[in-house]
Amino acid sequence: MTSKNLLIVDDEKRIRETIQTYFKSKGYQALVAADAQEAINIIRELPNLDLIITDVSMPGAKDGISLLTEIKQNLSPFSQVIILTGYPNVAGAVKAMEKGAFTYITKPFDFIDLHRAAERALKKRRQVKINIRRELQKENLSDLGKLWSGLAHNLMSPVQSILGFSELCLAENDLGKIKENLRKIITSTGAIRSSINSLLTKVRKGYSEDISAINLNDMINNELELLMGNLMMKTDIEVRLNLAPELPPVTGVYIDFSQVFLNVVNNAIEAMRASPVKALSVTTRGTDNSVLIEIEDTGTGISPQDLPRIFQPSFTTKTTKRGYRAGQLGTGLGLYSALQISQGYQGTISVESRPGQTKFTIKIPISQKPGKGLAC
Ligand SMILES: Nc1ncnc2c1ncn2[C@@H]1O[C@H](COP(=O)(O)OP(=O)(O)OP(=O)(O)O)[C@@H](O)[C@H]1O
Ligand SMILES: [Mg+2]
Repeated sequence: MTSKNLLIVDDEKRIRETIQTYFKSKGYQALVAADAQEAINIIRELPNLDLIITDVSMPGAKDGISLLTEIKQNLSPFSQVIILTGYPNVAGAVKAMEKGAFTYITKPFDFIDLHRAAERALKKRRQVKINIRRELQKENLSDLGKLWSGLAHNLMSPVQSILGFSELCLAENDLGKIKENLRKIITSTGAIRSSINSLLTKVRKGYSEDISAINLNDMINNELELLMGNLMMKTDIEVRLNLAPELPPVTGVYIDFSQVFLNVVNNAIEAMRASPVKALSVTTRGTDNSVLIEIEDTGTGISPQDLPRIFQPSFTTKTTKRGYRAGQLGTGLGLYSALQISQGYQGTISVESRPGQTKFTIKIPISQKPGKGLAC
C-alpha cells in the first residue's frame, strides 16, 4: 500500500483533532502539532512526511509561512504543504504559494475539498519521487561515459602485458618459461574480465528498480573497481578495504545503495585532493540487526561550523572550479540525497570529523520493511 503520512499543524485543538480523525478514517497516518516549533521537532524526527497541512496564523515566534519556508529550504523540501487560511488572509495564501505551498484552502472549509486537495498533493509527491529516482539514475548512467574511458584506460595495461608475454612465448623454447609467461597472460586476462564484469553489472543494475537481496561487499568491490578508472584514485590514493566476511545481505534496489556509497566516497576523494597522505578506508561490519559501511578519508576534515549543515540540501563548500571532477561545482545535493535514500530503508548516516580525518558511517537495517528506498 502506498504511504499517506500527514502532519496537521493548527493551534486550535478542536480543529487539528477533527482533521486528524477525518484523515485517519481515510487511511492516512495523521499526526498533530499545536504550533510551528512542535511541527519542526516532529519533521526533524520524521523528515519524509508526505504531506503537511498547516494553519497560517499561529501564536509563537513562527507562523505558518515561516514553517513552510523552513520545510522547503531545510527540513523536507519534497514534502507537500497545504496552507489553511482565514478568509481575510488571502494575501498570506498568495505568499504561501510563492514559497512553495502545494495549494491553500480557506477556512471554514469543506472536508471533501480538503481531502481532494490532499490526494492531489500526494499524487504530486509520488511524481516528485519518481522524477528524483530518474534523475539519480540518469546521473548514475551519465557517469558511465566517464567510466567507459576509465575502463579503456584500465584495460590498456593488461592488454599490453598479454601482448608482451605472448611475444616472449613465441620467442621462447624452454617449456617452463613458456608456462610461466602463459600464467601471466592468464592473470592479465582475468583482470580484463573483472573490469568488464564490473561495468556490465553497473549497466544492468543501474537501470533496474528491482528489489533484491544485495551483498554490500560485492556492491562496494564493484563500484570501487569502476572508480579505479579515475586517475587520482588509481595513482594517488591508497585504498584500504576491510570487508567483513559473511556480511548479511540487505534488501532493496541496487542503485540506491550504490548511489549512497558513491556520494560519500566521491566527497572523500574530493576532500583529499590537496592532502599529503591520501588514504581511503572502507570497512563493512554486520551487527545483530544491521549492516554498517564506514568510509574514512585523510582529507581536509569538516569544520565544526559546517558539520551540522552538510546534510542540508544545497549546502556546498565546492564553489570554485577546482574539484576533483575538473570544472564542476558542487550542487550540495550529494549528502542530502544519500541521507534521504538511507532513511527510506530506515537507515542512518553519521559523521565524525577533525582536520585530516573524516569518517562517515552508513547504517542499513537488515530486516527493514521491503520497499523502495527513495523516501524523499
Ligand atoms: N569527506 C568529507 N571531507 C570534507 N568535507 C566533506 C566531506 N564530505 C562532505 N563534506 C562537506 O559537505 C559538503 C556537502 O557535501 P555534498 O556531497 O552534499 O555536496 P557537494 O559534494 O558539495 O556537491 P555534490 O555532491 O552535489 O557535487 C561538501 O561541500 C563539503 O564541504
Ligand atoms: Mg558531494
